[in-house]
Amino acid sequence: MEYKEFAKYYDKFYSKKNYKKEVDFLKNFIDKNDRIIDIGCGTGIHASLLNDYNIDGLDLNEEMLEIAKTRINGSLYHQNMLDIKIDKKYNIIISMFAVINHLRNIDELELCLKNLKQILKPNGKIILDLHNPQSSGEKVDCCDNIKRTMIWNYDKDLKIEKSKIIFEVDNKVYNDEHIFRIFSIDEVKNICTKVGLNVKKVYENYDVLKEGTNSSKNLQFVIE
Ligand SMILES: C[S@@+](CC[C@H](N)C(=O)[O-])C[C@H]1O[C@@H](n2cnc3c(N)ncnc32)[C@H](O)[C@@H]1O
Repeated sequence: MEYKEFAKYYDKFYSKKNYKKEVDFLKNFIDKNDRIIDIGCGTGIHASLLNDYNIDGLDLNEEMLEIAKTRINGSLYHQNMLDIKIDKKYNIIISMFAVINHLRNIDELELCLKNLKQILKPNGKIILDLHNPQSSGEKVDCCDNIKRTMIWNYDKDLKIEKSKIIFEVDNKVYNDEHIFRIFSIDEVKNICTKVGLNVKKVYENYDVLKEGTNSSKNLQFVIE
């Protein structure tokens, strides 16, 4: 299962990711009393930086949620974003760091957005952070005694990025694989319109001053 092995090493390898910058970006859209949910909260780092707010989390992976439990004050839901069963409604729905790219196709994007709309309060906002690579590549790095090799291949025609992540720890090897569907700005806009939502703005790399383009590394969609 995706992220099963990954969960243990996730925080170590992403400790240099600028979560604070991303959360500062999010705060531009959040009011003090807003109820928030983090979809695909993973180990709960964004949510932990938003613990002053009323924030819940949802993730498909139990191992990631076990870690998130130690960080998030609100409720945690072990659910699939394609089949959300939560009675509460939220002012702000966030989904950070490529969670949406785990959806396999346009139909799943539509179903997911319908699910998100169902838990969104009137006048609420959905903020989606999408991975938007333009190339294939390979990277090797180390953290403590763990070596990580990442190999990713992007197929422009299929709009699919396949990546392999190999962890080597004490002579043992663990493999994780991810398949990401890369969604264009127009695809997201069209599907939002289809489900009765509206993309208000697209940003580039967590910068409220920069408008997203199809070549930005990361795109943030603010949807109402
Ligand atoms: C790259 S991690 C991002 C985690 C977190 N948002 C962060 O920024 O650190 C992607 C997360 O999406 C979750 N995920 C993938 N598919 C999902 C689905 N269908 N429903 C809910 N969560 C999902 C994974 O379990 C994983 O925790």
